[in-house]
Amino acid sequence: MFSSDDKIKKEEEKLKESQKVFGYVFDNTTLLNIYKFFHNGYLERFEFPIASGKESIVFAASKGNKFFAVKIYKVTASNFKNIREYAASRWGIGKISSKRKLMNEWAFREFENLKNAYEAGVTVPRPIKVYGNVVQMQYIGTKTRPAIQLKDIEPSQQIVEQIIGDIRKLYLKGKLVHGDISEYNFLYYRGKAYMIDIAQAISNDDPYSLILLKRDLNNIIRFLNKFGYSLNIDSVIKYVKGEIDAFR
Ligand SMILES: Nc1ncnc2c1ncn2[C@@H]1O[C@H](COP(=O)(O)OP(=O)(O)OP(=O)(O)O)[C@@H](O)[C@H]1O
Ligand SMILES: [Mg+2]
Repeated sequence: MFSSDDKIKKEEEKLKESQKVFGYVFDNTTLLNIYKFFHNGYLERFEFPIASGKESIVFAASKGNKFFAVKIYKVTASNFKNIREYAASRWGIGKISSKRKLMNEWAFREFENLKNAYEAGVTVPRPIKVYGNVVQMQYIGTKTRPAIQLKDIEPSQQIVEQIIGDIRKLYLKGKLVHGDISEYNFLYYRGKAYMIDIAQAISNDDPYSLILLKRDLNNIIRFLNKFGYSLNIDSVIKYVKGEIDAFR
């Protein structure tokens, strides 16, 4: 047999193996979306699960010796009602009745917002590809251990400046407000904080965005100030909106 046939056979076997496991967890369309990453050469294998939340499951996967993160939005998400209400009020999508369509939209937003943030110079995982409800992005961590969350470190002055600076870049260049900023939605790795979980971000010209921005900044300042920083919400807001050039 030719070596390329061997390779294909091996790949098919690998895929079958992962289907055995994933078949219990995911519906057929999700499996098909996962399959597209393999078939189109984006991924070769799943490495290990990283996290499982209400709306998604995140895996480490690889191609050759390169690792990626794969975020799979659950079509069976239990908080579908909240997401639908959010979609209706924020995106004006009143009539998405199918969960699948909504989770696809959610994954697509994650991908687009990551792209936008990345291009604005924000430290986020670089987005790679989206198929349906599955998003591939840069993996943050080592081959044995994914990055930890910001909540598990004592943030340095430099980290404080990077985080506030990134929220500002996202606002001024990316024209977005994250909307779910907290010490859980930054990953800490090699001296940098990576902003994640950005699907729900909204445009900074949305009338609701200022309320979200204040909530985001309150959340992160509450966390950072535990470590003796005395960040002031009013000046940080002005800084993020570009009204002043330094936040203290
Ligand atoms: N690019 C990445 N590299 C490494 N780990 C990641 C990456 N993206 C996400 N993770 C891990 O997966 C977890 C969940 O990711 P994320 O916050 O985006 O999903 P979520 O479904 O919104 O979760 P939650 O509901 O808990 O906020 C993160 O806390 C992190 O541990
Ligand atoms: Mg999260």
